Amino acid sequence: TSLKNAYRKDFLIGTALSLDQINTTNPLATQVISREFNSITAENIMKSMYVQPTKGNYFFDTTDKFVALGKKYKMFIHGHTLIWHSQLAPWVKEIKDSVEMKAFMKNHINTVVSRYKGKIDSWDVVNEALEEDGTLRKSVFFNTIGKDYLVHAYKLAAGIDPKTDLYYNDYSLCEPIKRKGAVELVKYLQKSGAKIDGVGEQGHWTLNSPSLEQIEQTILDFSALGVKVAFSELDITVLPNPWDLQGADVNQNFENSEKMNPYPTALPESVQNQLAKRYEDIFKLFLKHKDKISRVTFWGVNDGQTWLNDWPIKGRTNYPLLFDRQFKPKKAYKTIISLKTEK
Ligand code: G3I
Repeated sequence: TSLKNAYRKDFLIGTALSLDQINTTNPLATQVISREFNSITAENIMKSMYVQPTKGNYFFDTTDKFVALGKKYKMFIHGHTLIWHSQLAPWVKEIKDSVEMKAFMKNHINTVVSRYKGKIDSWDVVNEALEEDGTLRKSVFFNTIGKDYLVHAYKLAAGIDPKTDLYYNDYSLCEPIKRKGAVELVKYLQKSGAKIDGVGEQGHWTLNSPSLEQIEQTILDFSALGVKVAFSELDITVLPNPWDLQGADVNQNFENSEKMNPYPTALPESVQNQLAKRYEDIFKLFLKHKDKISRVTFWGVNDGQTWLNDWPIKGRTNYPLLFDRQFKPKKAYKTIISLKTEK
């Protein structure tokens, strides 16, 4: 069987695709992507700095290719992302007043959403609008338009493609204070008459945090608002964070540091097992709440390609996904499948 088949009655199983993977000529990559996943998200190429790098100049070559790939394999296609302060086209960062910012939002959302109307099944309309303390981030959108930019974005998107699902996407939503901010954000959109269909919880997690209780609470809190819950960018780092090591300096050059890159050639079996157990626990929880969960997307296909090899410091050898660098399924893959196939 495959991931997508094992979970076909529960929720979609997605993956993020890098530009290399969209363009890949490696038959193994294509095989794994098409066999295992029934949903795709573009890891980078749909962000505004790539789609509209300078005012009015849109680039759709690679995004068209991405959408065509999803259609070819009859996949659910998720759009990421329309309004985000990061990987934002530099010219937009310079905008100083609300009239010009609203014009950008209207033009960008109209152009991108209408190009893929009826093809992109759901969108991250706004990404990461919250600070860690749950207040609204003082992004260039907030600073020019105010809180209302949120309503503006969702109304624009719904006006163009009323059938595509509109999500709010963010990280660290298991932290109670940030989760509270996200709940308020969704309520505010609902009260303002904007269409909001779901919350995407990114899920960039570690072997022991957040706790299963915290994850469960987010599912309950968001679904209580009447919206779908997606786990939109799941990966589990197995490496230490520099700030967790006493005395470590985040800006230090860690390239040759054993502490920061403890498994340069292979993941020890004990950690492989821990990773599998962590994924097992998480997927058991997802299955318990499958009626509330629309989609679970991994942030990448295999360990060779994950952004976590370069974050928060460059040049590490991380192992956060279900397939290894040779596209071989890891123990975590088998564990997740066996939850559905073994009695
Ligand atoms: O394309 C350039 C390349 O030309 C250049 O040589 C190279 C040098 O560093 O950089 C390349 O761009 C990189 C880009 O990914 C494409 O590979 C950027 O440096 C790098 O910063 C960028 O990282 C992406 C990151 O978002 C940026 O914030 C990661 O791939 C991507 O996985 C990550 O995804 C985000 C989600 O969109 C939102 N949620 C968090 C998640 C993880 O950070």
